[in-house]
Amino acid sequence: MKKLLEEALKRATNYLENLSERDVAPGRDAVARLAKLNGPFPEEGLEDVAVLAELDEFCSPATMATAGPRFFGFVVGGSLPATLAANWLAGAWDQPASFYEETPATAFLEQLALGWLVDIFRLPSECGGGFVTGATMANFAALAAARHVVLERVGWNVERDGLFGAPPITVVVGAEAHAALMKSLGLLGMGRTRVVRVPVDGQGRMRAEALPAVSGPTIICAQAGNVNTGAFDPFPEICEHAHSAGAWAHVDGAFGLWASACPSRSYLTRGIEEFDSLATDAHKWLNVPYDSGLVFVREAEALRAAMAVTAEYLPPTTEHRKPCDYTPESSRRARGVEVWAALRSLGRSGLSDLIERTCGYAKRFADGLRAAGYEVLNDVVLNQVLVSFGDAETTRKVIAEIQEDGTCWCGGTVWQGHTAMRISVSSWATTEADVDRSLEAMLRIASKHARR
Ligand SMILES: Cc1ncc(COP(=O)(O)O)c(C=O)c1O
Repeated sequence: MKKLLEEALKRATNYLENLSERDVAPGRDAVARLAKLNGPFPEEGLEDVAVLAELDEFCSPATMATAGPRFFGFVVGGSLPATLAANWLAGAWDQPASFYEETPATAFLEQLALGWLVDIFRLPSECGGGFVTGATMANFAALAAARHVVLERVGWNVERDGLFGAPPITVVVGAEAHAALMKSLGLLGMGRTRVVRVPVDGQGRMRAEALPAVSGPTIICAQAGNVNTGAFDPFPEICEHAHSAGAWAHVDGAFGLWASACPSRSYLTRGIEEFDSLATDAHKWLNVPYDSGLVFVREAEALRAAMAVTAEYLPPTTEHRKPCDYTPESSRRARGVEVWAALRSLGRSGLSDLIERTCGYAKRFADGLRAAGYEVLNDVVLNQVLVSFGDAETTRKVIAEIQEDGTCWCGGTVWQGHTAMRISVSSWATTEADVDRSLEAMLRIASKHARR
């Protein structure tokens, strides 16, 4: 085992050490070589070190350098060093985090980390929470709690009786709600498109004055951090509107919720503590390994009512929190270990600095692009930048060449009818030099194509 793990360490450190100088996107040849692994299920097994060698030699070159400092696609953080190391140690433990009685260390760490997170996000202390796979499942778990409560208020037990014959639930979302939220609604039987959509402004913020009058079982879903612009919905108005009508207020804050951790950005999350449920990711801006999301529900019992199961062979309820009562999964990876490691290694000041720094780099990108004559389509309030290099075709060409060039990697989008390149600065590993080097590549490529 020792020799094998030392071999893994050697290969992993070699990979990480080369990350900042290699092309961000893998080469076509490297991706094509993956096919050499094809073949029928082998009759005989392979020695462990040879398995590792095969993995490294064929797959490492075909990876996208998302763990490196110049990947700006989607919303992707790297893994903070302490979280990668904690992930390795926790892998050796091979502990789930289902019951305190079964795995006290992981259950304990998750409870500790949850308490810190409630403090970071300035949520009410009675808030319950769980460690899920990502924001999609965080939204799912939160909305399951919401569904439980709004139907319970009209005398319907949805966990017991399902949705057949249940009173209808009105679901209100912003016109720019993320597709993952809609997927969660679909998984819960509330429909991906059977929603009331509230118009938004030019940044994608819900227009509070356009919120519909609601009554009966209702869930209103807001957003903290639009995936394109980084904009935040007007939380105080939305919560006031929801609560005055007895509705449930939920917020999808996959990455934006982390603005709360940074004094200079926390104005963006003003009123966040009024929500009944919140969803966020740890694998995005907190920079822990995949898969890691977080759900919070003010009324912890609502989340438990939606998620808990009992069986004769399972440990009975004790004074200890039962992690599996708060997540869709019964057995799962103890992903709270890495969340704890991230928070322990950063501390309050380090976390604030991570958010501040990445937001500052987004602004540096925006300033540099604007100065060169390109149109930045969003107000850069957070870590997201949208830039147009001219018409849709030109912008698409520039994006494709930037990806091919390999200095950095950015994706494309269409923002309210305008084709744009997205820059999302979410990694702890990015430095000012990485921003300048990437900007230089963007401007060099764009100048060949773009009309300014
Ligand atoms: C606002 C928002 N919600 C949900 C998601 C989905 O997150 P995940 O892929 O972690 O499930 C994203 C991803 O970018 C997002 O930006």
